[in-house]
Amino acid sequence: MRFEVTSLSPGFGGEITGLDLSQPLTRDEFEEVKKIYFEKEVVVFRDQNLTPGAQADFSRGFGDLMIHVLTQFQIQGHEEVLELSNRRDADGKAIGFEDAGRYWHSDISYNAEPALGTMLYAVEIPPEGGDTLFADMSAAYEALPENIKRRIEGKRAYHSYTINYKANESDAATRPDLTAEQLAKLEDVLHPIVRTHEDTGRKALFVNPGFTYRIEGVSEAESDELLQMLFAHAAEERFIYRHKWRAHDLVCWDNRSTVHHATVYDGKYTRHMHRTTIQGPRPV
Ligand code: OGA
Ligand code: MN
Repeated sequence: MRFEVTSLSPGFGGEITGLDLSQPLTRDEFEEVKKIYFEKEVVVFRDQNLTPGAQADFSRGFGDLMIHVLTQFQIQGHEEVLELSNRRDADGKAIGFEDAGRYWHSDISYNAEPALGTMLYAVEIPPEGGDTLFADMSAAYEALPENIKRRIEGKRAYHSYTINYKANESDAATRPDLTAEQLAKLEDVLHPIVRTHEDTGRKALFVNPGFTYRIEGVSEAESDELLQMLFAHAAEERFIYRHKWRAHDLVCWDNRSTVHHATVYDGKYTRHMHRTTIQGPRPV
């Protein structure tokens, strides 16, 4: 094998060097990358040169690509590539989603079949700020006290995009209103609080403050208490890897076993990214 893996943090995350993702990988290379990706939960490839088409081709190896509900931010000719950006067109209109994910979340967990993974490619990056935090939800689950594991065993929780859509907005308040058509596609869903990873067999916590609002079958007070405790636990420093972006990074995360959190940056800088999202199965 031509490539190498180094650890990004003691618990999880790996950087893969020696691969040019703009070229097709051999079958063996691809299978090895996939194994590392799911085991490490977050993998970083630096110094890549990816067109939207090449990024989509690489991403598609892992499954069908999802089309984000905010269709106004697709790249022309590549509906499966979403632009995250604070660039504006000549009329001052946002060309990309500027205010994505400044709270802990797992991508599209509000769908019945959420995203398996997400691949984010950095086109332009501010010199400071705009890091992305990742939390290891397998390790967070494993570290829970036994009595908490018992309390959440077999329980499910509701996820929603709309309930927190405006509350999730950052201070910049740049989120567009959802149209009736977009709202019609968004129905709340129930997922197990603990899910088992289809590829590694590892259990992981599958709740996040961005989209999870209520545990099924318990009082509202108990639901709030448990959720707040789980959110705080998963956000502990020991489970976190902070990614400091460089232009031309491709970062791939597994939404089944991690949550992530965007951080702010000074609006005088440009941050421009391309995102592909891989369809996942119904969590069990
Ligand atoms: C996302 C996301 C975080 C970031 O693309 O899903 O949450 O730092 N992005 O841009
Ligand atoms: Mn996200």
